[in-house]
Amino acid sequence: MNGYFVTGTDTGIGKTVFSALLCMALNADYFKPIQTGSDSDCDTVAALTGLPAGRIHRPAISLRQPLSPSQAAECEGRVLSLSAIRLPSSCHPLVVEGAGGALVPIAPAQDMAGLMVRLGLPVIVVARSGLGTLNHTLLTLEALRLRGLDVAGVALVGEPNAANRRDIERLGETPVIAELPLLSPLTPDTLRAMAPGVAIPPFPEKPDLDAWDADHVWRPFTQAKTASAPIRAQRGQGARIITEDGRELIDLVSSWWVNPHGHAHPAIARAVARQAHVLEQVIFSDFSHEPASRLAHELSLALPGGLNRVFYSDNGSTAVEVALKMAYQYWRNQGRPERARFAAFQGAYHGDTVGAMSVGMSSGYYHGFEPLTFKVDFLPYPATWLGDLDVEEKEAQALALLGNYFSVHADAVAGVIMEPMVQGASGMRMVRPGFVKAVADLVRRTGGLVIFDEVMTGFGRTGTMFACEQVGATPDIICLAKGLTAGFLPMAATVATEAIYQGFLGDSFDRALVHGHSFTANPLGCAAALAGLRLFREESTLARIAGLEAVHAKRLTALNGRPGLAKPRWRGSIGAVELTGGDSGYGAEIGKKLKRHFIDRGFFARPLGEVFYILPPFCLTPDELHAAYDTLEEVLVVLG
Ligand SMILES: Cc1ncc(COP(=O)(O)O)c(C=O)c1O
Repeated sequence: MNGYFVTGTDTGIGKTVFSALLCMALNADYFKPIQTGSDSDCDTVAALTGLPAGRIHRPAISLRQPLSPSQAAECEGRVLSLSAIRLPSSCHPLVVEGAGGALVPIAPAQDMAGLMVRLGLPVIVVARSGLGTLNHTLLTLEALRLRGLDVAGVALVGEPNAANRRDIERLGETPVIAELPLLSPLTPDTLRAMAPGVAIPPFPEKPDLDAWDADHVWRPFTQAKTASAPIRAQRGQGARIITEDGRELIDLVSSWWVNPHGHAHPAIARAVARQAHVLEQVIFSDFSHEPASRLAHELSLALPGGLNRVFYSDNGSTAVEVALKMAYQYWRNQGRPERARFAAFQGAYHGDTVGAMSVGMSSGYYHGFEPLTFKVDFLPYPATWLGDLDVEEKEAQALALLGNYFSVHADAVAGVIMEPMVQGASGMRMVRPGFVKAVADLVRRTGGLVIFDEVMTGFGRTGTMFACEQVGATPDIICLAKGLTAGFLPMAATVATEAIYQGFLGDSFDRALVHGHSFTANPLGCAAALAGLRLFREESTLARIAGLEAVHAKRLTALNGRPGLAKPRWRGSIGAVELTGGDSGYGAEIGKKLKRHFIDRGFFARPLGEVFYILPPFCLTPDELHAAYDTLEEVLVVLG
């Protein structure tokens, strides 16, 4: 829909009169989403414009006291929510008038700028022309831009002032679209006479993004020839992705498992914006900076004892590459080059770069790439689920095999890499903590290094900050990414013990870990990570995860034994179940069908073949998680 959101640098500066003028000039409808106080701006605009009642859209929220919406609501014992406010449908353009200025609070953590973001219209700022104009106007413009809003122009009300106009345009990088005198008398005629003086900005043209996408973009994990067009995400809020066509999808996969606290969390957005104004990037081989030092310190405090040397890189795959190179070179530096083999677990996935593919070769994701990879020994993985009667036996067999393996290769193994407790990409396959502990103990006894890939399981995913806390074993090296930056920026950390780090010190450059990436320790990523870690404390995130785990447990237990379903399992925020009776594997039709049905019902799920799983942002409410399971039950009935 075309239109403008009219806000002001203050209250009582002529927003309503300017909105009426804009309605006249554009032949637009008028909408006042929130009205506070006894005066009715709708009545004023109706009287000035002569618009019929049907084109004056009455407030979604009306409050008696002439205060900020949040305070006026408080007086009435109400808590407001932006979700009550939607653009009315109309065949005319729309002028939406805010209440007060951009940062006026509406509800806890919601303000007028948030409403503007939600409604998605370009913004016009009305400012009083006079002393203080520049400061108020520039502050408002900055606040709006920081929220990602498109500011179409500034309207100045009062004595014209050429210097103010020039400075707003120059410093605020925004056109002044009108300079309006205070009208006396204010009548429909005197107002209409002003209309030619308003340089109405054209409505922004929407380029054909679908066409650009189709012509130029190459998407991951996608067969472009047969895939449907991507869903166009416009913005994110909490657990929801809002699409360009106005749909809301609850993100049941945390956008490829990266998002712990919800989309566009304002505290993280602010931290990233603040950092962007200070230092965006600096070469990390020669410099350090506050966010990187702080984050390394915080990670060393958050991680189980001993993991205290942080090597930054870019993503989960690079975190794994770094870990493998670290382990390999560590032994060479110790004068033990024969320790050069790696062992990994069947089904494990560690990323898509060549080293990560090597240790993940049995995941089934790298068809045809085997010749590019190095040889890795794959160990049995005793995946388990609710009601698995064979788990003890499977674990015993796996440990016996591991014992044999190490008795033969004890002196040749550089390290064993493992996704502790949950193998993500191979279908949320879970093992019991005791098995992981037994593996770690066994590897330790033979002197090899234990590498935990907590790229997916880290940062609360399994119910504790790191999965290894539940295992009771600390690895020598841990790989972190995804949730590290709270879903905001691509960054990773490979964290090693002091003993490993010391193994690289020496007088020769050859002993150093000669590895690095252009954006190592990117300050924006570090700032996002620090803000994300703070939220774990401030929002009692682990308690929220426990609430989600309780829902998984209840619903998956209830589904156990249902025809068509098998192997329900959960851990922390992750719940999974397998769909039987159809095909299996990553491209399984049943998974694709399920995904389509979920999208139709307002949820984004992305089954891993026949494995349906939920791995949501931790801000998802228990009720929303119940709704996702209700949807699963409904869709299973539809699919027969
Ligand atoms: C356990 C694990 N390790 C590594 C990776 C690779 O991470 P990225 O996709 O950021 O390279 C993934 C990705 O899903 C993962 O789940």
